Amino acid sequence: EEVRRRHIRLHMEGALTARDKVGVQDFVLLDAHTSESAFLDNLRKRFRENLIYTYIGTLLVSVNPYQELGIYTLSQMELYQGVNFFELPPHVYAIADNAYRMMCSELTNHLILISGESGAGKTEASKKILQYFAMTCPMTDSLEIARDRLLLSNPVLEAFGNAKTLRNDNSSRFGKYMDIQFDFKGIPIGGHIIGYLIEKSRVVYQNHGERNFHIFYQLLEGGEEQLLAYLGLERDPQLYRYLAQAHGANESSMNDRNDWKTVSNAFAVIDFTEDDLENLFGIIASILHLGNVCFRENHQGCATIPVINEIKWIAKLLGVQPSALLEALTHRKIEAQTEEVICPLTLENSVYARDAMAKAVYGRTFTWLVNKINSSLVNKIWETSAWEFTKKTVIGLLDIYGFEVFDKNGFEQFCINYCNEKLQQLLIERTLKAEQAEYEMEGIEWEPIQYFNNKIICDLVEERHKGIISILDEECIRPGPASDLSFLEKLEEKVGKHAHFQTRKLAGPKGRKRIGWMEFRLFHYAGEVTYCTKGFLEKNSDLLYRHLKEVLCRSRNGILKECFLAAELENRRRSPTVGTQFKTSLSSLLEILISKEPSYIRCIKPNERKEPSKFDDFLIRHQIKYLGLMEHLRVRRAGFAYRRKYEHFLQRYKSLCPDTWPHWRGPPAEGVERLIKYIGYKPEEYKLGRTKIFIRFPRTLFATEDAFEFSKHQLVARIQATYKACLERRVYVKKRQAAIKLETHWRGALARKEAERRKWAVLIVRRFIKGFIQRDKPLCPDNEEFVVFVRKNYILNLRYHVPKNVLDKRWLRPPGILQNASDLLRKMCVRNLVRKYCRGITAERKALMQQKAVASAVFRGKKEGYAESLNKPFANSRIDEGDINPKVLQLIGNEKIQYGIPVIKYDRKGFKARQRQLILTQKAAYVVELAKIKQKIEYSALKGVSTSNLSDGFLVIHVSPGANKHKGDAILQCEHIFEVVTKLVMLVKKNIVHVVQGSLQFYISPGREGTIVFDTGPEEQIYKDKNGQLTVVSGCLGRE
Ligand SMILES: Nc1ncnc2c1ncn2[C@@H]1O[C@H](COP(=O)(O)OP(=O)(O)O)[C@@H](O)[C@H]1O
Ligand SMILES: [Mg+2]
Repeated sequence: EEVRRRHIRLHMEGALTARDKVGVQDFVLLDAHTSESAFLDNLRKRFRENLIYTYIGTLLVSVNPYQELGIYTLSQMELYQGVNFFELPPHVYAIADNAYRMMCSELTNHLILISGESGAGKTEASKKILQYFAMTCPMTDSLEIARDRLLLSNPVLEAFGNAKTLRNDNSSRFGKYMDIQFDFKGIPIGGHIIGYLIEKSRVVYQNHGERNFHIFYQLLEGGEEQLLAYLGLERDPQLYRYLAQAHGANESSMNDRNDWKTVSNAFAVIDFTEDDLENLFGIIASILHLGNVCFRENHQGCATIPVINEIKWIAKLLGVQPSALLEALTHRKIEAQTEEVICPLTLENSVYARDAMAKAVYGRTFTWLVNKINSSLVNKIWETSAWEFTKKTVIGLLDIYGFEVFDKNGFEQFCINYCNEKLQQLLIERTLKAEQAEYEMEGIEWEPIQYFNNKIICDLVEERHKGIISILDEECIRPGPASDLSFLEKLEEKVGKHAHFQTRKLAGPKGRKRIGWMEFRLFHYAGEVTYCTKGFLEKNSDLLYRHLKEVLCRSRNGILKECFLAAELENRRRSPTVGTQFKTSLSSLLEILISKEPSYIRCIKPNERKEPSKFDDFLIRHQIKYLGLMEHLRVRRAGFAYRRKYEHFLQRYKSLCPDTWPHWRGPPAEGVERLIKYIGYKPEEYKLGRTKIFIRFPRTLFATEDAFEFSKHQLVARIQATYKACLERRVYVKKRQAAIKLETHWRGALARKEAERRKWAVLIVRRFIKGFIQRDKPLCPDNEEFVVFVRKNYILNLRYHVPKNVLDKRWLRPPGILQNASDLLRKMCVRNLVRKYCRGITAERKALMQQKAVASAVFRGKKEGYAESLNKPFANSRIDEGDINPKVLQLIGNEKIQYGIPVIKYDRKGFKARQRQLILTQKAAYVVELAKIKQKIEYSALKGVSTSNLSDGFLVIHVSPGANKHKGDAILQCEHIFEVVTKLVMLVKKNIVHVVQGSLQFYISPGREGTIVFDTGPEEQIYKDKNGQLTVVSGCLGRE
C-alpha cells in the first residue's frame, strides 16, 4: 500500500509539473475566473498538450480529442483507484472512482451525468467509466459473467442504436440510461438499461452523408455467406434502397467487418440463442427487403406490387402469409359501422405503409433487444431470497443523444434537443439554482450569481395544453384536414409571442431570409435551431395501418410475436403520440436522476470536422457559454466545495473527537462545532449554516477523510476485539453451561450410584441383623448368609490370632455355631504347634522334657515345692565322674553311671545323718561312701520310693524284704528331690513312688519297722522324737 502511495505521489508530482506548465487543472484556480477568454485559453493550452480533462471543482470538462491518447490503460485505472479526487490529474476515472467510493462508504445511489452536444464524446466517456468499474471493482468468479455482459451489452446496443451522422460517426440515435448495481461490498452484480426514443425514421431515410444503423452494414459486410444466403441478401449495401439513398457517406471511416465480429461475440455472451439470432437477423434482412419493395400505380390509381420476390423473402423471414402481406401493403381496412371494407391504397399511402412497417418493426425489435439484454443482466443470485435484504446500491450512467443542429432539422432533432434542454434544466436546478438557494437557506452570506435558466424553453415545449408538444398532439387527433402547415399556423397562433420561438412570419425582415415557409425556430439554451415542420404530424402519430398490424401480429417470428401482441388490436384506444410518450419517459427519467447523487461530465466538441488537435475557438466558446460553465465556475469559486448535514457529518467523523465519540447527545450542530475545533479547521475553511456545515476547499475534507480512514482502522480493531470477545464469551458461556450440565449429570449419576449402594448396604445390614438374630437356629435362608459370613469372617480373623507357640494359650473366641469347629481347629493348631515344637527340640532337651513329664506324672499336685521346681532344669548328674571314687567305679564295673548326687543318709536306727553319694546305674542304685559301696539296691528288688507331700527333701527307698544282702530301706535326704526321684523312676521304668501324708513306715530291717513323721513348722528341723520316730519339719514358707 505504501509503495503504491509513493508511486502515486511520484506520478502526481510528474503530473503537477506538467500541469503547471499547461494551465490549471482546476478552473477554480484560474486567476481571472470571470473571464471567458481566460477560460478558453486554459482549455486550449491543455488541449494542445492533449490534456483533454479539466475540473471545475468536482465537475469534469472533457474535450473530445478525436484521437487515441493512451490514457485509458489498465495502469491508469489502477492509478486512480481509491485515490483522493484532487491528488491526481483530472480524469474520467477520477469521477468514476469518486462516485464509486462515495457509494461504498455512504451506501447511496449515484449518477454520472454526461452531457454535451452530439459528437462531444459522451458515449466514449460512458464506455470508459463502465470499463473502469469492470476492471477495478472487486470481483468474484461467479459475477464475472455479469461483468462481461455489462460490457458487451454496449457493442450490441450500439450496432442497433447508433449510426453515422454528420456530427458523429458513431452517433447514439437512442437515449440510454444504465444502472450498474453493486452489492454492499462494492461488487458489481448486475445492471439495467432503459432505452429512450430510438430514431426510427433513420431506418427508412437518412440525410445526405449519413448512414442507417450500423447493424445493416455490419450484417452485409461481416455476415457469413451462408447467413446472407439464408436471409436472401447480397453483400452490397448499394442494392438496398434503405441503405443506398445516403450518397457520400464516407464508408472508409467505418470498420463494419470488425464490428460485426465484436457484435457476434457479444451475442454469444449475453444469452442469445441460435433461434433469437435467426429471428433477429430475419427481421433486419426483412427490413432491407421491405425497402426494396416497389409499387406501381395501376390505371385506377391504386398501388400494386409488380415484383413479389421481395415479398416472398419478407414473408419467409417474418413467418407471415405472403398474400396477406401483399394485401396489407396495398390495401387498407376501413371499418364502416358493422362491416369492414377493404379499399386499395394509393401509391403514396402504400409507400407510407411500407415505411411505417419498417420503422415499427425496427423500433419494437430494438425495445425487445433492450429487454433481452436486461434479462441477461439481471443477477440471478441477486434475485434469490438471501440477497433481497442486503443493501444494494447503483451507479447510474446517462448517455443520451446530444444537442444536434443540422441544416435540416426534423421531429427527431426536436425531440433530441428537447431532451437536452431538460437535462440542462436538471443541471441548473441541481447546481446553480439549488446551490445558491441553499446558501441563502442556510444563512450563509452570498451574493447571487446570474445565470440563464432554460426552464422557459422547457415550458415552451412541454407545457400542458400550451406547449409545442400539446399543440402537435392536438393537430394529430383533430378531426378535419390537419397538415404540417396547419400545425405551424397553430404554433404561431398559440406560442408566437414566446421569446424563444420564431417563424418566418414572426421574424423581422432580417431574420426572415433564414427561415423557410415550413419552418419554425427555437432559441435553445445551446443555440438556435430551425426545425422544418414537414413530417412532424406523421412522425408524432407514428401510425401503422391496422391491416399491417394484424399481419405482424400473426407472425411466426419469435421476436415479432413478442413485439406485436394480439391484445393491441383489440385496444381501440389511440396510443399516446410519440411526443407525449417521450415527454413522459423523460420526466420519469428525471425522477430517476434526481433521486441520486450526481457527478457531472460536460463534454465539449473541439471542431465540426471530427479532426484531432483542431481547436475551434468560436465553436468552443459557444459551448462554454451554453453549458453554463462560467456560471458554474463562479458559483464554485465563491461557494463551498462540500456541504453536509450536521447529522451526517457528525455521524461520519465523530470518531475523530473524543467529545463526540461514541455518542454526541447534544444538538448535532454543536457536536460538529466541537469536532471541527478539535481537528483544527481554520475559520476560512468552513462556514456553519443552519443545518449544514460548508467546507470551502476539498483538501480540508480530504484531510478529514484521511484522518477518518486512519481512525477507522483503530475503530475496526476495537469493534473486532469487542466482537471477538463477545464470540469468545458466548463460547465460554456455552462451555460453562455444558460443564455445569455435565457436572450435574455426573453428580446425579454418582448420587444414584451412592443411593444404590446404600440401598444395597441397608439390605445387607438388614440381612445381617436378621441373620444375627437367627444365628443359632438351624441353617435356613434367613441366616444362611450370616452364618457363612460369620464363618468366613471368623476363619479369616483367626489367621491373625493363632497361638504363636505351645505356651501361648490365647484363642479367638468363636461364635456359638463355630464352637465345634473352633475346638477342632484349636486342637489341630495345638497339635501342630506341639508337633512343630517337638520337631524343633534337641534330643537332649527331649530327654529332659521326658524326665520332667515323668516328674509331673509323679508329683504334680502331690508334693509341695513341685511347682517351683518346674523351671529348674534337671541336670544330667550332680556329681562329676571325677568326684566318684575310682574304686567305686571299678566296683560298679561296666554298669554305666546314669546319675549321681550327694545325699544325706539317715541310718535306720539312730537316724544319724551321714554324707553319702547316691549313684544310679542302669541296673541299680548305689549308696556310696567314698570308696565303699554302702548299699546296692537292684531295681528288681526295689519295692517303692516314698516322699512326703511337704517341701522336705526326704525320700525313702523301699527294698523288698528277702532281697540279697537286705539291709532295710534307705532314708535319704537330698537337695534335688524331684530330680532324683524322677531319675530313679525312669531307670526303674515303673512308677513306684508313693507320696505320703503325715508319716510313713519303713523297714529298719526285715520285720522291724520305723516311722518318719512329716510335719510343718516355722523352722526346718529334723530330729528324733521321744518315740524314736524321725520327725521332719518342713518350713511352711509359701504355704501361709
Ligand atoms: N476520450 C476520447 N478519446 C478518443 N476519441 C474520442 C474520445 N471521445 C470521443 N472520441 C471520438 O469522438 C467520437 C464521438 O464520440 P461519442 O462519444 O460517440 O460522442 P457523443 O456520444 O457525445 O455523440 C468517437 O467515435 C471517437 O472517435
Ligand atoms: Mg453518443
